[in-house]
Amino acid sequence: MPSQNSFLFFIMFFFLIISCLTLTSTSSSSPQKEDTFEFVRPIDRKLLGLNKKEKLSHFKFYWHDILSGKNPTTITINPPTLKLNTSTAFGLVNMIDNPLTLGPQLSSKLVGKAQGFYASTSKDELGLFMAMNFAFIEGKYNGSTISIMGRNPAFHNVREMPVIGGSGLFRFARGYVQAHTYWFDYKSGDACVQYNVYVFHY
Ligand SMILES: *[C@@H]1O[C@H](CO)[C@@H](O)[C@H](O)[C@H]1NC(C)=O
Ligand SMILES: *[C@@H]1O[C@H](CO)[C@@H](O)[C@H](O)[C@H]1NC(C)=O
Repeated sequence: MPSQNSFLFFIMFFFLIISCLTLTSTSSSSPQKEDTFEFVRPIDRKLLGLNKKEKLSHFKFYWHDILSGKNPTTITINPPTLKLNTSTAFGLVNMIDNPLTLGPQLSSKLVGKAQGFYASTSKDELGLFMAMNFAFIEGKYNGSTISIMGRNPAFHNVREMPVIGGSGLFRFARGYVQAHTYWFDYKSGDACVQYNVYVFHY
C-alpha cells in the first residue's frame, strides 16, 4: 500500500513538473501572444536593438522624374480640373515610381526607387507637397525605406524636406533632405534632382 501511494505521488509530481515546463516554454517561445499587458507597457531599448549608438548618415543620389516617352516613371492621376493658375498647376497630382541612381545619368547604378506622389498645393508659386518613400535596393540597405513628407517649391535652388521616419535599418529615423534640381526640361517636364539625405538612425 505505501509503495503504491508513493508511486501515485511520484506520477502526480511528474505531471506537475511537466505542465510547469510546458507553460514556461510556451510563454517564452511566443512572448507576443503570452504577454500579459493589455494596451501599452514600457519596454527595454535592448529588446529592439536600440541600445546601440545612433548614427548620422549622409546619402547622396539622383531622383529621375520621367513624364515623357513610352516608359514614364511619373503619371498624372489628377490634372487640375479648375485651371486657377496654369503656371502653378494648383491641384495637379502625380504618382511616381522614380529611379534613384548614384550618378546623374539614368544609366548609372540604381540604388532604389522613390515611390509616392507629389501634388501642387500652392496657388501663386510652384509649390509641391511631396509624400514618398525611398525604397532602397543597395547593399545592406536593400529592403529598408526612408519616408519623406514636405514642401517642395521646385523652382528654388535648394529645397528642404523632413525625413519623417523609416523602416528596416531606418527604424526611428529622423532628419531632412535637401533637393537641388540638376536639370529640368521645360518641354517634357522631365527632371533630374540631386538628393542629399541627412538621417539619424540606429
Ligand atoms: C500665378 O502664378 C504666377 C507664377 O508663380 C504668379 O506670379 C501669379 O501671381 C499667380 N496668379 C494668381 C492669380 O495666383
Ligand atoms: C534585394 O532583396 C530582394 C529580396 O529580399 C532580392 O530578391 C534582390 O535580389 C535584392 N537586390 C539586390 C540588389 O541585392
